[in-house]
Amino acid sequence: MKFVRFIMKNAAMASVPKHIEHFSKFSPSPLSMKQFLDFGSINACEKTSFVFLRQELPVRLSNIMKEINLLPDKLLTTQPVKMVQSWYIQSLIEILEFLDKNPDDYKVLGEFVDALVTIRNRHNDVVPTMAQGIIEYKETFPHDAVTNQNIQYFLDRFYMSRISIRMLINQHTLIFDGSANPVHPNTIGSIDPLCQVGDVVQGKYEFMLLGGIKEHCLFFPPCADKKNLPISIVYVPSHLYHMLFELFKNAMRATIETHENSNNLPPIQVMVSLGGEDMSIKVSDKGGGVPFRRIENLFSYMYSTAPAPQMGEHTRPPLAGFGYGLPISRLYAKYFQGDLQLYSMEGHGTDAVIYLKALSTDSIERLPVYNKTALKNYKVSQEADDWCIPSKEPLDLSNYKVAK
Ligand SMILES: Nc1ncnc2c1ncn2[C@@H]1O[C@H](COP(=O)(O)OP(=O)(O)O)[C@@H](O)[C@H]1O
Ligand SMILES: [Mg+2]
Repeated sequence: MKFVRFIMKNAAMASVPKHIEHFSKFSPSPLSMKQFLDFGSINACEKTSFVFLRQELPVRLSNIMKEINLLPDKLLTTQPVKMVQSWYIQSLIEILEFLDKNPDDYKVLGEFVDALVTIRNRHNDVVPTMAQGIIEYKETFPHDAVTNQNIQYFLDRFYMSRISIRMLINQHTLIFDGSANPVHPNTIGSIDPLCQVGDVVQGKYEFMLLGGIKEHCLFFPPCADKKNLPISIVYVPSHLYHMLFELFKNAMRATIETHENSNNLPPIQVMVSLGGEDMSIKVSDKGGGVPFRRIENLFSYMYSTAPAPQMGEHTRPPLAGFGYGLPISRLYAKYFQGDLQLYSMEGHGTDAVIYLKALSTDSIERLPVYNKTALKNYKVSQEADDWCIPSKEPLDLSNYKVAK
């Protein structure tokens, strides 16, 4: 029996490249908030969702696996990246097993939910593991030609793909696991059709104060729309929590570090604003700001200055310290067509603004697709810069003296 399973496992492994080839030829299908809600509304159909996912998940997995394969060998062969790649292969195999199963069989539907839960757990630590791979690569080959730009391009797409795959898995497992959510009866899976932004801001802030940061104060005018109702949008509260947590952490840290010797810390100010198109949240601190030159680097996965956190065999890798707070938060904002931007004035402080779509009809998944344009971004450019590089040495003008 063991031997048969071994043979079958190897056969499944052997056919993986063929499946990746096949499924990566399809473009992922971005879902709108409305479609997400429909999948989970009263006429929610588990069978429809199952049939959609057993095609769409392999498509999304295969599209991004094609890009993983384009990474430089020296990065691909690091232990952490090999591990991440093996998780993707294993998960793809497990979903493909459902391709020829009968959607009318409720047992199959149950097994599918279980498989999705297993897959979600398997991929829990993808971000810190991948980060570890990048750190090892950077340490071993500090002068390699692969640019920050290539890695940035890949990781933005890789993590965005991951956010989207987890969203699909969460929706299906939360909606069809047979139990209603007693704490949030109005949510549909992980989506709150009436996500009150002010409550989320206040809630996250108070949660952080409980964590021991007591001396801060928040300046937060009540946020209401034109009819004086609390501002609400259709959104995934956990995504909003994630972004606010990172922005608050950064603002608090900057404030404390800049005003170390002062008894009165300047408040962190939050503004929430709803327009016809945008719902924006601004978090302002007076924490001394960042030089303009550094702003772009703050979103870079490669420029993170943090030392490599130690990863033991059985310890869960820590997320803090990778410097991934801003880039990942920006991906969450971009996932439903929003954005996250930093405006800073060195010497004063920083405004971080989250832009989200006000209308659920505009909130549509933003997904990477593997094609020729994507392929170009993995080529290392050897071309010279078309802007002069300023010399560090002052120009010796005496060389230019005209002989008299
Ligand atoms: N509000 C802010 N004020 C000053 N510096 C900031 C602010 N937000 C971010 N930064 C700078 O950007 C860096 C990257 O932030 P982040 O991506 O959250 O990673 P981390 O906080 O783990 O370093 C921080 O280390 C800090 O130097
Ligand atoms: Mg941070």
